[in-house]
Amino acid sequence: MKVLISRKTGNYYYYNGIGEYHCKEGFLTEEQLHSGENILINSKQREFLIFEANKHDEFQKIKRGPQIITEKDLGYIIARSGIDKTSHIVEAGGGSGGATTFFGRICKSVHTYEIREDHCKIIETNLKKFELDNVELTLGDLAEHIETIDKDSLDLLFLDMPEPNMVLEKNLDALKSGRYVICYLPNVSQLLEVAKLIAEKQHLYIEEVTEVQTRHWRIWERVSRPEFRSDQDFTAFLMFLRKN
Ligand SMILES: C[S@@+](CC[C@H](N)C(=O)[O-])C[C@H]1O[C@@H](n2cnc3c(N)ncnc32)[C@H](O)[C@@H]1O
Repeated sequence: MKVLISRKTGNYYYYNGIGEYHCKEGFLTEEQLHSGENILINSKQREFLIFEANKHDEFQKIKRGPQIITEKDLGYIIARSGIDKTSHIVEAGGGSGGATTFFGRICKSVHTYEIREDHCKIIETNLKKFELDNVELTLGDLAEHIETIDKDSLDLLFLDMPEPNMVLEKNLDALKSGRYVICYLPNVSQLLEVAKLIAEKQHLYIEEVTEVQTRHWRIWERVSRPEFRSDQDFTAFLMFLRKN
């Protein structure tokens, strides 16, 4: 895949490598697109930059079903959890595989559980796109599987599901001591429900609750102001629960 950026509008377009490319700003011929030039002038005399897509570009184009976690939140989760290429992760629900593809690129192994078959199909498509062979996908409820996972085998348990307490109230022996359960919680009511359970069971320590905010700026000729972007808004609370 190639990325085209219009110099005039700043719009991004994604070219799959076949044929001409048409968009509302005009078109580019197949010959131009394969010329090896990195600046192209289209049919409306607009200048386009052309690049090979990187993983960030591919992430923008992944198949979407349920709401995907944002890059701003994933970046913090990866940095804050201390995971690396030796880490083994279990996550639920898989959703569209947004978090799965990130963890898969960084960690030794990822096992994702997803309760809905239609969502599993989306995840499978996205895993193929990212050519990940270290990810296992199970159709099922993580709450029913968590106690079957080997003791002290996990470096991270990531929960992006409506009712994380279904998993948290189980025996979490699979998670190594000092490692995290991270709950991704779009609602404050969910956050309070988890906090209540932890207070009762005391098997985890609430080390941090964070909301990640980014602010993107548009620097464009005489315009310099914050961008209007949906991912600048609130997305979710990140709750870091440390296993003792
Ligand atoms: C918001 S989506 C997760 C999005 C995902 N993190 C991503 O980045 O694409 C929540 C998913 O959790 C799944 N789910 C809900 N309860 C579950 C459970 N007990 N076990 C496994 N998956 C579950 C839902 O079917 C849904 O696909």
